[in-house]
Amino acid sequence: MSVFTEETRERAREIIARYPADRSRSALLPLLHLVQSEEGYVSPAGVEFCAEVLGLNKAQVGAVATFYTMYKRKPTGDYLVSVCTNTMCNVLGGQEVYDTLAEHLGVGHDETTADGKITLEHAECLAACDYGPVMTVNYDFFDNVDPQGALGVVEELRAGGRPMPTRGARLCTLKEMAVQLAGFADERDAAVADGGPGEPTLRGLRLAEQHGISVPGFDPNTPIRSKAEADKAAAEAKARAEAAKPAPAAEPVRPAAATGSTAPDVKAPDDKSPQIRTAETRQPDAGTAVADAPGTKVPTDTTAPAPRDAQAAESAGAAANPPAGDGKPAGDEAGAQQRNLKEAEAGAGANGAGPAVASETGVQK
Ligand code: FES
Repeated sequence: MSVFTEETRERAREIIARYPADRSRSALLPLLHLVQSEEGYVSPAGVEFCAEVLGLNKAQVGAVATFYTMYKRKPTGDYLVSVCTNTMCNVLGGQEVYDTLAEHLGVGHDETTADGKITLEHAECLAACDYGPVMTVNYDFFDNVDPQGALGVVEELRAGGRPMPTRGARLCTLKEMAVQLAGFADERDAAVADGGPGEPTLRGLRLAEQHGISVPGFDPNTPIRSKAEADKAAAEAKARAEAAKPAPAAEPVRPAAATGSTAPDVKAPDDKSPQIRTAETRQPDAGTAVADAPGTKVPTDTTAPAPRDAQAAESAGAAANPPAGDGKPAGDEAGAQQRNLKEAEAGAGANGAGPAVASETGVQK
């Protein structure tokens, strides 16, 4: 009997439905997280399950599952403690943190404590170098850790506590995290109510603000939303977009002089491209030619391009760029023809045969 419940199968169907019908194998990565959420690792049964629901063979699934380090190949503890020992963290003490934890827990890389609580691993850059040394617990960050701080975190975990990460959402178990990585929301109450970006993360933003650069509508203090809040916001945004849709185009208003109307003249809509407007702003006097700075010239030709027959254009392009077929880049027509002619001549000389045909470009001798 399969270790995977009907609920898991339902979730698998939901994951597969996210992808086009003829691209279902793209669902493999989230499906591997899904099976990992059941057993804490990608077991042979998990590989078989993925192969079955996607119509792949087990070797294909296994090749993917063994490529990525986030898919565990043996049972893993409730908490995966990853310590960055890459260059930046290392010079700041990352290796010392790792060594201290390894000695204290009595485990090495990719090993789990006897109580099944903690799996330790060293990691190659956790993408938080500005907070080094860093460690993560089930991919949630503990920044600027030192050996004593790291020991405190693992001891609290072993005692059943859930220490607060420095930023991001609240800690969950590795199986719970695998559900999220499979693309399902964390439904715990206030699961994402805490945390936010730290100052080092916002340093670039602050500098940009000081220099008058901003992104409209961006607020770094925006809290992470729960799924219900996100769904509500998406529905509201959709309703706003519907309401803001332009009404059907009205008849253009003709200038008063042409119509004989006494109504005030209505300015014709400005349909110029941003580039044209920029060029006009920079050179308001069109009669005075001002040289553009090198590399800054803005095209001002507004003549609409002549309509093209796309199919004919494509055929012409293909004819001008025959496939080289000899490992040389396509498009080297003259070179390819010369090479093929030489090959054809050599072939004819060697065989004493009649006219040779150069196969790659259709060139005949
Ligand atoms: S080197 Fe440690 S997070 Fe990048």
